[in-house]
Amino acid sequence: MRVLGIESSCDETGVAIYDSERGLLADALHSQVDLHAAYGGVVPELASRDHIRRLVPLLRSVLAQAGCGMDSLDACAYTAGPGLAGALLVGASFACGLALARAIPALPVHHLEGHLLSPLLSAQPPAFPFVALLVSGGHTQLMRVEAVGRYELLGESLDDAAGEAFDKTAKLLELGYPGGPALATLARAGRPGRFKLPRPMINSRDLDFSFSGLKTAVLTAVRARSLTEEDKQDLAYEFQEAATEVLATKALAALAATGLERLVVAGGVGANQRLRQRLDADAARAGVRVFYPELRLCTDNGAMIAFCGAQRLLAGASADPRFAFAVRPRWPLAEA
Ligand code: KG4
Ligand code: ZN
Repeated sequence: MRVLGIESSCDETGVAIYDSERGLLADALHSQVDLHAAYGGVVPELASRDHIRRLVPLLRSVLAQAGCGMDSLDACAYTAGPGLAGALLVGASFACGLALARAIPALPVHHLEGHLLSPLLSAQPPAFPFVALLVSGGHTQLMRVEAVGRYELLGESLDDAAGEAFDKTAKLLELGYPGGPALATLARAGRPGRFKLPRPMINSRDLDFSFSGLKTAVLTAVRARSLTEEDKQDLAYEFQEAATEVLATKALAALAATGLERLVVAGGVGANQRLRQRLDADAARAGVRVFYPELRLCTDNGAMIAFCGAQRLLAGASADPRFAFAVRPRWPLAEA
C-alpha cells in the first residue's frame, strides 16, 4: 500500500510517500521559519497562505523522488488536528481534493499520533508496548502505547508545553523565533551554578508536568538586572538543565510505574541534545532502552503522517466516502 502524507498543522509544509512494503520512498519539507522570523512567532494567516503556495511543488518533488505517478497512490493521509485551523484546512482540502480526483481514500490523521509513531520509521524501531514521551510546541505528554491506535494518557503538562517553555524563555532572552534550538545553542556556552531555577513538580509523585513556574523564574531573573551576554548564556544553560531534568525524571518514573522497558521520545523538543544525553544516562542506569526518531523526523514532517495513515489503513480504518472533512484545532489523542 502506498500512502501520500500531508502535514500543514503549523509552520512547516510536509509531503511524503510511504510504501508499506518498501518503506519511506520520498519526503519533502518547506519550513516557514524565514517567513515568521520578523514577527517573533507564527502568524496563522501567513502560515495558511504559504501552505497553499508550497503544496503543489512539494507534491511534484516527492513524486519525482519516488519515481512514481499519482496513479500509484492508494490513499492520501493528512493532518486533521490539533493545530492552527486555517493551516489545517489547507492540507485537508488539498488532500481531499486529490483523493476525490483519484478515487482513493482520504484519511484524517492526528498530528501527535504521527509524532508518536515516527520512531517506527527508524532503522531499529521499538517493539510494542512502550512508554512515549511526547514533547512538542503544543503538548507534553506521557503515554502508554500498547499498539497502533491504543494509547493511554499517563500524565501531561498542566500548563505550558515543554516546547512552549523553551520558546517563551528564548523570547525573554531576546533570541527570537524559533526559540528552542536557539536557546539550546546559547546554553552550550553557559556555566553552571550562577542562577538557581526550580524543577516544578519533580517530586509530585504523579506523571504530570508544569513549566509555567520555570518560565516565570526566568522572567524574575531577567527583570532583576540588565543581562550581559554571559548572563543570558548562563540562564539558558540553567533553564535547559531544569527542563530536561524534569522531563527525564518523569519519563523514567513512567517506565517504573508501568513496568515497561522501552521509552520512545517524539516531538520537536526530542531534538534537544541535552535531553537525549540525560535520558540515555538515566536509562542506562535503570536498564531500559530509549528510542528516538531520526533527527529530521523529530520536528513536523509529512513522513510521519504518511506512515501513520498507512498503519491506520492496515489496521482497518475507513475513510469518509463523502469527503465531508473537518479539522480539529483541539483534539485529545485518546479520542483519535
Ligand atoms: O513537534 P514540533 O516541530 O511542532 C509541534 O507539533 O509543536 O515542535 C516544535 C517545538 C518548538 O517549541 C521548538 O522550539 C522545539 O520544538 N524545539 C526544541 C529544539 N528543536 C525544536 N526545543 C529544544 N531544543 C531543541 N533542539
Ligand atoms: Zn508537531
